[in-house]
Amino acid sequence: MLVRILQDYRKSEKIDFVIGNVENVTEGSGVSQPAFKSLRGAGIDVCTTGDHVYRRADILKLFDRYGDLIIRPLNYPKEAAGEGWTQIETPFGLIAVVNLQGRVFMDPSDDPFAAMDVVLPKISAKTIIVDFHAEATSEKRAMAWHLDGRVTALFGTHTHVPTADEEILPQGTAYISDIGMCGAYRSVIGRNAHNVLKVFRTKMYAPFTVARDDVRVCGIVLDIDESTGRARSIDRIALRADDGA
Ligand SMILES: [Fe+2]
Repeated sequence: MLVRILQDYRKSEKIDFVIGNVENVTEGSGVSQPAFKSLRGAGIDVCTTGDHVYRRADILKLFDRYGDLIIRPLNYPKEAAGEGWTQIETPFGLIAVVNLQGRVFMDPSDDPFAAMDVVLPKISAKTIIVDFHAEATSEKRAMAWHLDGRVTALFGTHTHVPTADEEILPQGTAYISDIGMCGAYRSVIGRNAHNVLKVFRTKMYAPFTVARDDVRVCGIVLDIDESTGRARSIDRIALRADDGA
């Protein structure tokens, strides 16, 4: 659905730059080379990832060839393939994108707060957008206060469930705890609900097949003053296939 609609959406809404988290685009886990290429062709400028970044070996080739266009969480071991941030020259000036991963209810990683303090002095772009891939809203909101006035926008991913707490913080940083997923909402976070329920209730195996019904493209649209790097507005979007999108 995203590949089908993104070019037209970019034009009609005058979207200049698109960031997409692609960690689960290939059958719900990881990202293959063809999927990356089709999303890039459809109009995603920079891809972020998260805890599923290394689920498919293709990611190593993608980091080799397109390391400035697809990134992994910054607060990973320094030996981990890929980079945690990127900076792209655009007609609107430099845009930096940073990817972070949370530590609450997730596999261990380095301190994401300290990692931001280390990386921010290295970034020359005024427009800095952070994808904080994390489970807990508390950790994401805490990061928002850590970065208020220091980045343009901080949005959460990973829960697949959109939150309704979008706001501009006092020092000008746009924030939302989770932008939701592009996927099938008649599901348990994108997977066949029946099978997920079976595992919860019995502890027995059931394949977590990707659900297909009630597909929505969810995300946010930011309006940014590129001369200051401050966000003017943040709006949630949820485009439904049922609406003819
Ligand atoms: Fe994730």
